[in-house]
Amino acid sequence: MDTKSKYQSFLIQYHAGVARDLPIISPFARELWRLPRTRTPSIEALTRAFQTDPFLAAKLTGASNSVFFAHDHFIVLTVPEAIRRVGVRYAMNLISEAPPLPPSLDPGEVAVLWAHCMAVADAAKLMAANLPSAPFAPEVAHLVAIIHDIGYLLQISYSPNTWDDILARLEREESHTDNAPHQLQGEELAKFWSLPLAAVEAIKSHHEPNRCSDPHARWLSGIIAISEVLLQRNSEPRQIEADEWSAATMRKELNVSRELLLQVREHALQVHDECMRYAHRPGADGVVPRLQLIRTGGDNDE
Ligand SMILES: [Fe+2]
Ligand SMILES: [Fe+2]
Repeated sequence: MDTKSKYQSFLIQYHAGVARDLPIISPFARELWRLPRTRTPSIEALTRAFQTDPFLAAKLTGASNSVFFAHDHFIVLTVPEAIRRVGVRYAMNLISEAPPLPPSLDPGEVAVLWAHCMAVADAAKLMAANLPSAPFAPEVAHLVAIIHDIGYLLQISYSPNTWDDILARLEREESHTDNAPHQLQGEELAKFWSLPLAAVEAIKSHHEPNRCSDPHARWLSGIIAISEVLLQRNSEPRQIEADEWSAATMRKELNVSRELLLQVREHALQVHDECMRYAHRPGADGVVPRLQLIRTGGDNDE
């Protein structure tokens, strides 16, 4: 490792917040990244790019809650509100100034991380939409969930050789106890980028929601934690039905029915597969078709 890389590793390990920006991994956002600077996309395309990309979602939401934009001191935790607050030009600059992925990583490879984030966000949103006691709107659950693993993005951005380890975790199980750094790095970034406290805490504890003392953060991290376990390919629907799985306690605490969980699981796994197909479609740099399942614009779009 050269001196520069060592210095970067030190900074990332102890001060993740030094990262100013991270690569875009959503194909929808990459479409806009490739546009000439003189072209402004439709507000729908812009909103979809921010709703589907972990870095853009985090940076935009943080900026909209920062001292530079939050003049009325109201917390903003949805993409449309955040774009309204910062303006289209600022939002477009976030996209066009995002760095590329490290040359050793292909966007097609990193699609596994994107599909994971999209599936967890879909599951979190569906649960929020169907829980009368949910303290947050479905769109808020989606936004925080799309950001939840931003620590991995930091790791691959500064140390691309960590990708194999991240990939293995995403394909098996993420919640092992030795996997805390990505949560802490996510927390650092979220704090440094001015995300609201509930989002910071939820990202910090998304594999250990019991550690959240704030009830709102605990709810958000609980929903994300359930989604993570629910979406493991080897999680058995029969075990979920019998409440013999590791998220059973949190399921009871958040009052999520087992029937709802099974529906959520099926839908979110479809979103995962559709994201993978979409990211690997022939001519992936071409025109964006309308997808059947990936709809993140509103609360009633199921
Ligand atoms: Fe995750
Ligand atoms: Fe995670």
